[in-house]
Amino acid sequence: MILTGDRPTGKLHLGHYVGSLRRRVELQNAGDYDKMFVFMADVQALTDNADNPEKIRQNIIEVALDYLAAGLDPEKCTLFIQSQITELTELTTYLMNLVTVSRLQRNPTVKSEIQMRNFEANIPVGFLCYPVSQAADITLFKATTVPVGEDQEPMIEQTRELVRRFNTTYGEVLVEPQILLPENKAALRLPGTDGKAKMSKSLGNCIYLSDTAENVWQKVRSMYTDPDHLKVTDPGKVEGNTVFTYLDAFSTDEDFATFLPEYQNLDELKEHYRKGGLGDMKCKKLLNEVINKMLEPMRKRRLEYQQDIPEIYNMLKKGTQSARETAAQTMDEVRRAMRIDYFNDTELIKEQSERFCQAK
Ligand code: TRP
Repeated sequence: MILTGDRPTGKLHLGHYVGSLRRRVELQNAGDYDKMFVFMADVQALTDNADNPEKIRQNIIEVALDYLAAGLDPEKCTLFIQSQITELTELTTYLMNLVTVSRLQRNPTVKSEIQMRNFEANIPVGFLCYPVSQAADITLFKATTVPVGEDQEPMIEQTRELVRRFNTTYGEVLVEPQILLPENKAALRLPGTDGKAKMSKSLGNCIYLSDTAENVWQKVRSMYTDPDHLKVTDPGKVEGNTVFTYLDAFSTDEDFATFLPEYQNLDELKEHYRKGGLGDMKCKKLLNEVINKMLEPMRKRRLEYQQDIPEIYNMLKKGTQSARETAAQTMDEVRRAMRIDYFNDTELIKEQSERFCQAK
């Protein structure tokens, strides 16, 4: 059972694609897992966008189109919207009893997000608890495998702790998930086009899956490289050079044969760059070809899906209904394990009727 999701706070970019989306499409098509759930985490998005629900509302369709364009197929994987699964809130409430405030404050991802958002002394409770809500997302569907980027590692660890805590307290119901990180080192965290640590909408350094070929070229052309590589003849640095980091993440030997046959592969290109005599422009042109080759089939699919938006909502509705069936089953087990399934608890009713019922 695979499960993963994204916050619908904006269009998805190449960082999302290499970090997780590309893998999901492969996993979906390999068919090694019996089921795959992919969802839009609008509840989580609202934990730091409480005053801007319209942003979330508008981005549901953007993310849905990105999913479909990237190749997720509603026939093979269940796509749904988090807020429509009310069981998630229920499970979150119970899991919140099994974790301390200080443990949540120590979560490294939460910690850095608190700093980034200047929450410090004014942390919204819902925000602090989002790792618990994420644990509910994962465990409600008994996911075994969660394909995400490395920034999500603390969330998966937190989930595993909660599962152990739940199972020892109430009995074996929930399943400990495994994280599935991207295979490619360069894809662990894709830097922005400006060379900054992370591709992120707020930094304005993204290449979006929905960008046109012209957009992509504009962004690649002005990409950060080695600031000391001034003349073509200068020796250049490959490490920390965004163009090469992207080539690491996206290019294949086949791409070299197609677009730059003077070089066998990326190692040869790097070698030449290091030695000197290879200009940035040539590398950027290659990268532009590589990215556009990858995005072109997505653009075609997106254009098709865009023609019938009501059908996309229909598909999401069906996915949500199907996800709720699984959710309801797990919640039945959770309530039984926690002994709060009063109306089905015939033992309880019998024991108490014997205790309270007195001969008249
Ligand atoms: N936290 C994830 C992100 O910011 C989104 C997410 C929410 C998620 N719930 C999840 C990912 C459950 C995997 C599994 O991208």
